[in-house]
Amino acid sequence: MNAEQVKLVQESFSRVVPISETAAVIFYDRLFEVAPAVKAMFPADMTEQRQKLMATLAVVVNGLGNLESILPAASALAKRHVSYGARAEHYPVVGGALLWTLEKGLGEAWTPEVADAWTAAYGTLSGYMISEAYGRAQAAE
Ligand code: HEM
Repeated sequence: MNAEQVKLVQESFSRVVPISETAAVIFYDRLFEVAPAVKAMFPADMTEQRQKLMATLAVVVNGLGNLESILPAASALAKRHVSYGARAEHYPVVGGALLWTLEKGLGEAWTPEVADAWTAAYGTLSGYMISEAYGRAQAAE
């Protein structure tokens, strides 16, 4: 992703921060609608999970301009996810739910450029996480 895309992701995310809790509810509702099987992997009470997700997204978004700074945490996060039962093929599903949520949350601010920037950001992050957790061959699939 280029510097302009980093800026677009950071600016658009700053509009979502004030509605973090709602955005997280929309995200998990969407995820469990499109992938009902993953619901059982999550705790029954999602309150804490919603906060953790949004806090981690904030760290990642803030670190996009300096990727090396977030890679160790992203690697550790990916490896923890193996024990949660996450598989490589879940990542595009989660990415789809994330983009869908941002589109709903941002309304008219969800322009094609913003969509492309988020697609690139999620692609970079998830590609790295998949290769760290499952190896490069899976990440390339
Ligand atoms: C870039 C993508 C993702 C991000 C940023 C992310 C972020 C997080 C965070 C911050 C947590 C809290 C626990 C921790 O820090 O270890 C978590 C937990 C969890 N994630 Fe993810 N996640 C991602 C992708 C996925 C995928 C693809 C799945 C597969 C279904 C998944 C399933 C889970 C589950 C089941 C838990 C709950 C574990 C538990 O508390 O028992 N996540 N995720």
